Amino acid sequence: MVCLGNICRSPLAEGILQSKINANEVSVDSAGTAAYHVGKLPDKRSIEVARQYGINITNQRARKFTVKDFDAFNFIYAMDESNYQNILLLARDKKDESKVQMILNETHPHQNLNVPDPYYGGNQGFENVYTMLNEACEIIANKIS
Ligand code: 4NP
Repeated sequence: MVCLGNICRSPLAEGILQSKINANEVSVDSAGTAAYHVGKLPDKRSIEVARQYGINITNQRARKFTVKDFDAFNFIYAMDESNYQNILLLARDKKDESKVQMILNETHPHQNLNVPDPYYGGNQGFENVYTMLNEACEIIANKIS
């Protein structure tokens, strides 16, 4: 699960997908394409919206996406078009490229919709992001487990 800062959207996506899969069978992680927030906890507003739905994401710390993630993961989900392009810049070959998808194409195939960046908005933005990611992760969980 990849966004820009790895503090708002992708930590929610990680926590939500983790809650829907068997951790013995599937490894879920998140990262950001930028390094501004490396080592930090998720944003308080992401922690709070997750908590309201019974998901604890306070074990997460932000990290930057690296080329090694192409080897470690079979599926790489970008939250928006900008993240998608920045991940593809690191791809070494067609196999790497084929792992990268826009996460909302799970709920809205071929539309390349963005999960809106909620960083500069209020709590409602985080609630909206949660709802979108919950629907997408339900589909992903059914596919991979
Ligand atoms: P995220 O949100 O990519 O969903 O983690 C953002 C977090 C931080 C910034 C931008 C977006 N920032 O500019 O610091």
